[in-house]
Amino acid sequence: MRDNVTDPNAASRRDFLRGSSVAAATAVLTQTAQVGMDEAAAEALATQQISAQSGTISVTLQVNGKALKTEIEPRSTLLDVLRHRLDVTGPKRVCDRGSCGACTVILDGQAVYSCTTLAISSQGKTIRTLESFDTGEGGVPHAFHQNDGLMCGYCTPGFVTACQALLEKNPNPTLEEVKKGLDGNICRCGTYVGVIQAALDAAKAIKV
Ligand code: FES
Ligand code: FES
Repeated sequence: MRDNVTDPNAASRRDFLRGSSVAAATAVLTQTAQVGMDEAAAEALATQQISAQSGTISVTLQVNGKALKTEIEPRSTLLDVLRHRLDVTGPKRVCDRGSCGACTVILDGQAVYSCTTLAISSQGKTIRTLESFDTGEGGVPHAFHQNDGLMCGYCTPGFVTACQALLEKNPNPTLEEVKKGLDGNICRCGTYVGVIQAALDAAKAIKV
């Protein structure tokens, strides 16, 4: 059949073009709507992320047996939140980069550097600082005092906390185990002899 012969059953070129353009327009509209939706979703996500990055969120931390609620920036370290939001100042900021141990806390039974731990990821875990330790005879702080395990004292909260965590896991450590258990902590004053003896004495006396 030649092109110019009319076929009643055949769609005319005009009908075809009309149909095509409607379909194309629908496709374009659908695409546009989809792009619009994607953009809206992306924008909402970006806004959420910006607000998550620069805004504050509410967190509850279990510190020394108490549920403490506060508002923090999601990027906040556990050390910052303890010291500046919750007034728990036992953990010290010294290097602030995970190398000295002055900021040590016990998180779910593990000694960790609070300066390299996000507060937001500490939710739902038990956090203990030296404020909660037994300070009487038989306690780790007393053993440090008895053995001159400190000079300036800046490293001491971290050492006491690491020692407490060690003895809770291993109540009868050997000298080598004490050295290994405390090897994440640094004392610039060089009180290691006293610190190690304090740990060994505390192991004999401590009631963990
Ligand atoms: S202050 Fe955290 S390791 Fe030094
Ligand atoms: S007692 Fe001074 S840093 Fe350890």
